Amino acid sequence: MALLRSKLKLMVTVMMINLFIFLIFRQNSQYKNEQDKVHIPSKPFWTKLAPSSAYWNHQQQILDFQNNPILMANYSETDIPDWLINANLSSDPCKPNVRVTTQVKDYNSLPDRFKDFLLYMHCRSYPIKLDQPDICKKPPFLLLAVKSQVSHFDRRQAIRQSWGHAGVIANQTVVTVFLLGNATAWDHHPDLSKSLYDESMRHRDIIQWDYRDSFFNLTVKEVLFLEWIQTRCPGARFIFKGDDDVFVNTYRILDFLKGLSEPKAKDLFVGDVIVDAGPHRDKKVKYFIPESMYIGKYPPYAGGGGYLYSGDLAARLQQVSQHVALYPIDDVYTGMCLRKLGLAPEKNKGFRTFDIEVKYRSNPCAYKSLMLVHPRTPQEMIKIWAWLSNPSLNCH
Ligand SMILES: *[C@@H]1O[C@H](CO)[C@@H](O)[C@H](O)[C@H]1NC(C)=O
Ligand SMILES: *[C@@H]1O[C@H](CO)[C@@H](O)[C@H](O)[C@H]1NC(C)=O
Ligand SMILES: *[C@@H]1O[C@H](CO)[C@@H](O)[C@H](O)[C@H]1NC(C)=O
Ligand SMILES: *[C@@H]1O[C@H](CO)[C@@H](O)[C@H](O)[C@H]1NC(C)=O
Ligand SMILES: *[C@@H]1O[C@H](CO)[C@@H](O)[C@H](O)[C@H]1NC(C)=O
Repeated sequence: MALLRSKLKLMVTVMMINLFIFLIFRQNSQYKNEQDKVHIPSKPFWTKLAPSSAYWNHQQQILDFQNNPILMANYSETDIPDWLINANLSSDPCKPNVRVTTQVKDYNSLPDRFKDFLLYMHCRSYPIKLDQPDICKKPPFLLLAVKSQVSHFDRRQAIRQSWGHAGVIANQTVVTVFLLGNATAWDHHPDLSKSLYDESMRHRDIIQWDYRDSFFNLTVKEVLFLEWIQTRCPGARFIFKGDDDVFVNTYRILDFLKGLSEPKAKDLFVGDVIVDAGPHRDKKVKYFIPESMYIGKYPPYAGGGGYLYSGDLAARLQQVSQHVALYPIDDVYTGMCLRKLGLAPEKNKGFRTFDIEVKYRSNPCAYKSLMLVHPRTPQEMIKIWAWLSNPSLNCH
């Protein structure tokens, strides 16, 4: 009896184990089947494209649509949604686009600089007044491009006598150009065009386009310069672009560039990088942007005081910029172009757009390992350059 009971017990146990194994396998195979099965979503998992309420974002939607060959191929002329057509723009993008006055909901209450920007936002080509067609006949290793204004004669001269001294530095060819717009009578600027012309004849380093040089038009300067590089200086290996109130340690920059590996050099874009920023909503700030103009964060961007990039990347930036709507803040715009290329600027501690500590400012050795310091007056530029050029400067 006891034997039978124990036999029965064994049988039940074996059956239980079998059942258990069966269940596990069944579950597993079910799981496997599910993995193999192709899931077809019952409804679209993307959201329907709707027009953005902010003007820049909306213009970018239009550009993205127009430049997307898959979407464009699928839509026939008639079923493109109205809001994706930039009606009547193509005729002449450089005529003031009066439709913005109703498309931007608070247009009438915006400060004048926004009205000016919006009216001409689609214009990207302006005549060149002063050019240096042969300046890169011998392609330079480094092109220094300085954003300047007509009246800043002293800053340009200080740069020529210091860090922008063109020619051969540390065995590398350096070419310097100054990028200018027009100082218009409209903005009550005195007419300095004769003096500028003389300066241009003497130094042959002035590039000037005929558009109103204003803060919000710096992006125009950027796209015109990118185009200029492709026509006049496509062979430049590297390009520095910055303001005329910065000190640049050209020696350190050349040293840094010579040490780069080939792949690193190709995609180079370094500066004082700002991440996780967004538009300022305080009307009193210089960088204020209303919500009717732009919504969203900014991509990582290098502060416009000065950044360094490769000639190879300059060509790609020029291409992609045609697919990015102009934005009133030039360094943010360049960040937008980089993002479209799938790139991000790289932060380098040698770029001090917010200056160095006061106690180091008059110490020559503090500048030795830096690439850029902002701001500096013309006198300071000449002084610091003399320090760095002195062969007996000994820093540890
Ligand atoms: C693109 O066109 C194909 C064929 O005409 C169509 O089946 C498909 O739904 C279209 N896709 C979109 C996103 O319109
Ligand atoms: C576009 O221009 C045509 C004439 O050139 C005009 O009739 C039409 O109203 C304009 N459309 C818009 C949306 O302004
Ligand atoms: C400059 O180049 C010459 C010849 O290539 C070389 O002899 C010299 O050492 C170089 N000077 C510097 C500072 O690199
Ligand atoms: C540029 O400036 C010159 C001299 O002040 C002036 O005659 C010309 O009209 C200006 N151009 C524009 C587009 O404002
Ligand atoms: C930019 O320049 C154009 C051409 O001179 C001018 O019409 C426009 O008002 C300027 N925009 C700003 C924001 O100053």
